[in-house]
Amino acid sequence: MTQTTSDQSRPIVGIIMGSDSDFDIMKEASTVLEDFAVPFEISVISAHRTPHDLEVYATSAQERGLKIIIAGAGGAAHLPGVTAAMTLLPVIGVPVFSKKLSGVDSLYSIVQMPSGIPVATVGIDNARNAALLALQILALSDEVLMQAMQAFRHGLAEESRLKNENIRRKLRAKS
Ligand code: RP5
Repeated sequence: MTQTTSDQSRPIVGIIMGSDSDFDIMKEASTVLEDFAVPFEISVISAHRTPHDLEVYATSAQERGLKIIIAGAGGAAHLPGVTAAMTLLPVIGVPVFSKKLSGVDSLYSIVQMPSGIPVATVGIDNARNAALLALQILALSDEVLMQAMQAFRHGLAEESRLKNENIRRKLRAKS
């Protein structure tokens, strides 16, 4: 593993979404990446409405320096899968909630990829987990990021232990 000297001006994670209506969910991924000082780019590209733009984006992603793509879409959510078909970069799919079928359509569209073209799929609307998974992959070759991820996990454990204390306090107050 090497120390990282990541160039803050060059994005290494690409966040894409099918529409600006996905932004409120997908911005959670950008917030996490910002928290860990990982440079990213964010764009609306649609597998259905701008398929040629998607082809340019996906086929140039690796040479532009991206290492991972996070793709969010809702409904007939083909964006992550079509992106994965056109790049060897790992693609993490975020199924976005849809009004008609509550995001189950998005989830199934993203998770049920044909053998050979994987998309790592997180829970409905869970753009935060998509970013954390991206960070864990990047941390495998970035010692500084790995230490930051370890500190993050310790923080989660501390929060969880505090919840234990909370319920004990409630039980004591009852008796
Ligand atoms: C998908 O269709 C998008 O990812 C979005 O979740 C959904 C609805 O898009 P809009 O009609 O709001 O543009 O392509």
